[in-house]
Amino acid sequence: MRPDDDEFDRLLDYVEAELGFATSYYDDAYLDRRVSSRMRRTDTDEYDRYLDLLSDDDREQDALLDAFSVNVTSFFRNPEVWEEVRSVLRTLSVERDRIRLWSAACSDGREPYSLSMLALDDPEVDDGNVAITATDIDREILSAARRGVYENTRTTDIGEQLAPLDEYEEYVERDGDRFAVTDAVKDLVSFERHDLINGDPKSDFDLVVCRNLFIYIDTEHKLPILETVSESLSEGGYLVIGKTETLPELLKPVFEPVARRLRIYKKTDSTSIQK
Ligand SMILES: C[S@@+](CC[C@H](N)C(=O)[O-])C[C@H]1O[C@@H](n2cnc3c(N)ncnc32)[C@H](O)[C@@H]1O
Repeated sequence: MRPDDDEFDRLLDYVEAELGFATSYYDDAYLDRRVSSRMRRTDTDEYDRYLDLLSDDDREQDALLDAFSVNVTSFFRNPEVWEEVRSVLRTLSVERDRIRLWSAACSDGREPYSLSMLALDDPEVDDGNVAITATDIDREILSAARRGVYENTRTTDIGEQLAPLDEYEEYVERDGDRFAVTDAVKDLVSFERHDLINGDPKSDFDLVVCRNLFIYIDTEHKLPILETVSESLSEGGYLVIGKTETLPELLKPVFEPVARRLRIYKKTDSTSIQK
């Protein structure tokens, strides 16, 4: 239970109206954890006091927006999912002249670069026909994604993350603990800012990978995001969501499972969502 619901709601209303972050779509407990971490850092113990501070301080506004974005990601996150993504890419390569992929909520780029490396690496996928759009709401993380440089840390082993590739050295230039994605990998990917909550759907994607965002989103608001994603898919296009995420009931008629346990689905002909 939150200490003061009115104060907390006032704070969230301010963030939504003035800072443009759609707090109403996110899980309250998640938002509270992020706000509380900023309150500890700024030595503020009431939501109203923190709101005063926030409205006067541009840097704190940036810090709070940063705190709301959880950017945890990796190359080939859940490798077993990527084996199935590989076979989806092979199928698309046979069926379609060009393959358009969208990594929605791409964080620091390791997800779209994994798609790119897979396309370059697999002899059955014609990488010349592959184009990857990668989007995120967070401008800073998109700059990191464009740089494409990743480092080993105490808890991150980039070489291990790249292990699903036979010879990852072809796709990254390694300098000690730093791994820079090669130009060939970058060339298939274009990054842009896109908000999956307030933004328009895109069109004609053959595969949308939208993983590990719903875990932070309020249950009732997952549907509009998934509708945006679903509308962005071509007929017979594929959708991959996070391994611990689920499709809302209303969307189940629109998607048939390709690999249910791995959360990979194919859009069926019944494109309209019955409400
Ligand atoms: C945990 S990361 C997931 C990254 C990657 N998809 C993966 O599974 O490894 C969640 C990402 O969602 C982004 N995000 C949060 N709200 C968003 C929104 N409304 N629209 C687009 N991206 C959003 C965050 O900035 C963050 O980079």
